[in-house]
Amino acid sequence: MRQKEGRFYTDEQVSRLPEIEPIHPYFHEWQMRARSGKRLVSYLQKKNKPLNILEIGCGNGWLSAKMAELDGALVTGIDTNKPEIEQAHRVFTNSSARFIYGTFNLDTFGKFIKFDVIVFAASFQYFPSARGIIDEAAKLLDEGGEIHIIDTHFYDTEQAKLSASRSKKYYANMGVAEMAGHYFHHSLNCFDGFDHKALFNPKSWLNRVTKKDAFYWIRIGPTQTLPGREGFKKAIKVSPTGGDLEGADNMVGRQSLYHTFKRYNTLRTHRISALPIVILMPHSACNCRCVMCDIWKDNKNLKQITPDDISKLVRSLKKLDTQRVLMSGGEALLNKKFLVCVRY
Ligand SMILES: C[S@@+](CC[C@H](N)C(=O)[O-])C[C@H]1O[C@@H](n2cnc3c(N)ncnc32)[C@H](O)[C@@H]1O
Repeated sequence: MRQKEGRFYTDEQVSRLPEIEPIHPYFHEWQMRARSGKRLVSYLQKKNKPLNILEIGCGNGWLSAKMAELDGALVTGIDTNKPEIEQAHRVFTNSSARFIYGTFNLDTFGKFIKFDVIVFAASFQYFPSARGIIDEAAKLLDEGGEIHIIDTHFYDTEQAKLSASRSKKYYANMGVAEMAGHYFHHSLNCFDGFDHKALFNPKSWLNRVTKKDAFYWIRIGPTQTLPGREGFKKAIKVSPTGGDLEGADNMVGRQSLYHTFKRYNTLRTHRISALPIVILMPHSACNCRCVMCDIWKDNKNLKQITPDDISKLVRSLKKLDTQRVLMSGGEALLNKKFLVCVRY
């Protein structure tokens, strides 16, 4: 498809992007992309600190390589297109950008890798659910982290339908009708409910007059730290009341309205439908003899949780929206299968 569109570039051309010869069919598009790329890079530069950056859908890696020129920056580019990732590897050997071939998902990075900045450059339109992909990406953000979306069109609802049918025709004419199913026309209100800002608005009067740039630049975030609760991240979603932020993924006590309703219902009906915190006793016995505690006095009536118990429990706890499981005791570590239990 990229070849058919004339969008496959030689290694030498990629090394110079976004500069390209004026006779190139996409010269004007690249000029526009050069400006939006430059705006993003100089914004990041002003942060004046080493950034851990992820570019989702990095293609041949030209923008990742540009961001990797920032002082102390480490950039990871991921793309599902193998030839382009191979090209990025070949061309940008000396940069502090690394490139991963794969389809973006949370498992690629595991629980412990967090990014300061996540960038979608001309790639956001390939994700069917705008809100879904923002939610996923936000889980990989560190404190104060931001998501930036550049070089993607956003439409109002009517325009979105028209553009979708234009794309369908375009891909059919190219002989790749199935591509239309991989290209999505998101409207600007897909950001409603997220803490977001248009850092560049192509529809502002000045930009309309100059008619130079067609794409919005959207920033989502930054995530913030709750005062006095460092380490507890505020989500980048705005609550329906418009006030505080809701849904922090690692915080108990700030939940969705639905969850609050479930808790209220539990109190009203005495039927448990939400259980935010669960305390388990992996091992009833204790090897301490604390004077203020009498748990150890019942050591002979030993009860232990097994991994099998936990695997059954996990299903129920998911339904009950449990967010924290406290392993108490007795002395939890006396349970020989403790680590297996915790892994669930
Ligand atoms: C139009 S290209 C943009 C490439 C690059 N960001 C640039 O600025 O030139 C969009 C890229 O997104 C990639 N992409 C689409 N869905 C993806 C996914 N789920 N995970 C990773 N990459 C994806 C495509 O393979 C494609 O290379």
